[in-house]
Amino acid sequence: MSFDGLMWVEKYRPRKIDDLVNQDEVKERLKPLLENKRELPHLLFAGPPGSGKTTAAMIIARELLGEYYADSTLSLNASDERGIDIVRERIKKFASYLDRNESIPFRLVILDEADETTSDAQTALRRIMEETSRHTRFILICNYSTNIIEPIQSRCAIFRFKKIGQREVVARLERIAKDEGVRAGPGVLEAVAAACDGDLRQGINLLQAASAGGGEVTIEKVNAATGRTAKERATEIVRLAMGGDFGSARLKLVEFTRVYGIPESDFLRFANEEIAKGEGEEAARAIRVLAEYDYRLAVGANPEVQLTALLAELAALHKRGGKA
Ligand SMILES: Nc1ncnc2c1ncn2[C@@H]1O[C@H](COP(=O)(O)OP(=O)(O)OP(=O)(O)O)[C@@H](O)[C@H]1O
Ligand SMILES: [Mg+2]
Repeated sequence: MSFDGLMWVEKYRPRKIDDLVNQDEVKERLKPLLENKRELPHLLFAGPPGSGKTTAAMIIARELLGEYYADSTLSLNASDERGIDIVRERIKKFASYLDRNESIPFRLVILDEADETTSDAQTALRRIMEETSRHTRFILICNYSTNIIEPIQSRCAIFRFKKIGQREVVARLERIAKDEGVRAGPGVLEAVAAACDGDLRQGINLLQAASAGGGEVTIEKVNAATGRTAKERATEIVRLAMGGDFGSARLKLVEFTRVYGIPESDFLRFANEEIAKGEGEEAARAIRVLAEYDYRLAVGANPEVQLTALLAELAALHKRGGKA
């Protein structure tokens, strides 16, 4: 199973423009653009977190490029800490492939966090957009369009995404809860919606976190899911794994890194603290396992794969311990 399948935000990410909730104006203006694909302008999506900007960009890419979607789309973070030159090089290389595919109108660059860059970097970006404009269209994504320099704004069709209203958040959560067979007590979905303040990603993640232990979702569970620190989360994951529950540990790990965006190295640090508290042969073995994975991450192995394998080994230790 893919990691994405485990996360409700991905599972319930809309696949069609019509399925986006609460963005009627954006939807009405996007649809005609997609009917005339070869005339597509650059697009600038602005709006609050978790309102559907990245989702809309992905839908457009799929509609525009069909089966070539994966190969003909480049998704980058404009504020890549390695600098605008790296971003420029990657876009240039991508836009100038010789084996350009005649059956697609454009290659597409989706550039997230475009407003997190300096105006110098944006000036460089504007030049890249011009240099590659024959074969490439850009979708720039930002929270505030006012942080985007005027020459870029004037080259783009601007779409403003709205914060998703409480009622729509609740309706969407109800739908997901129903599909997942999750029961929520009275007022619980409203409490989730209030906590996420129009950020539907956060709302869905919160519902998933609060329902992870099974049983009815209560206000207490929602509160518990909102207020935990990275250390508490890491500790819980280690305990689940060392208790032999690999499945739950893995789900929580995905949540830890993807939902809360906590670095993998933090996980190892907290895991080490937790395991070091234990005594006996099992704890000693667990520390040796941890050290091995610490090393693998340091030499650049895929963190998600490695940490999943780490949890599997910890869970296996428990099973062996139980039998001995
Ligand atoms: N308008 C929407 N309609 C339906 N689902 C939505 C909508 N907006 C967000 N979601 C849900 O939230 C998830 C995250 O949305 P998305 O990645 O599009 O947010 P975003 O606007 O790009 O946020 P950010 O600025 O944080 O990147 C989606 O996978 C989807 O499940
Ligand atoms: Mg996004």
